[in-house]
Amino acid sequence: MNPLITDETRDRLIAAACAARPSAYVPYSHFSVGAALLADDGRVYTGVNVENASYGLTVCAERNAIGAMALASGRRVLAVAVCTENGVTPCGACRQVLSEFAPDGGDAPVWIVDGAGDVRETSIRALLPDYFGPRHLQ
Ligand code: THU
Repeated sequence: MNPLITDETRDRLIAAACAARPSAYVPYSHFSVGAALLADDGRVYTGVNVENASYGLTVCAERNAIGAMALASGRRVLAVAVCTENGVTPCGACRQVLSEFAPDGGDAPVWIVDGAGDVRETSIRALLPDYFGPRHLQ
């Protein structure tokens, strides 16, 4: 496990994801999602889901967090936290996008948090095994 990933880091990421969640723009689903990423620059980047009246243009919290990281030139995701009311895992599209930035084939932990604060741990690899990624295009 990466030395940057301590219990303190996990708690910080979870807190960031849950703090972001109320900012979600969800007038259609009313399903708010907060996501936080630890990048290899040691910084935490957050995102929320942003819906649109043209529903298919909705962008998930995880992909908005990736956008925030990319804007700051971050290129590696070391850990992820996702906060929802019912503790759901990232959708398929977000799994693919997270995988793009996952070092070491997806070892990065993903903490799934629910509204009661219950946490379970998985990983990018476990969420999307054998993913198509940058290595296939080198
Ligand atoms: N959503 C996310 O933000 N992340 C996911 O991984 C699953 C789905 C959002 C999209 C939409 O705004 C709402 O949750 C319901 O699908």
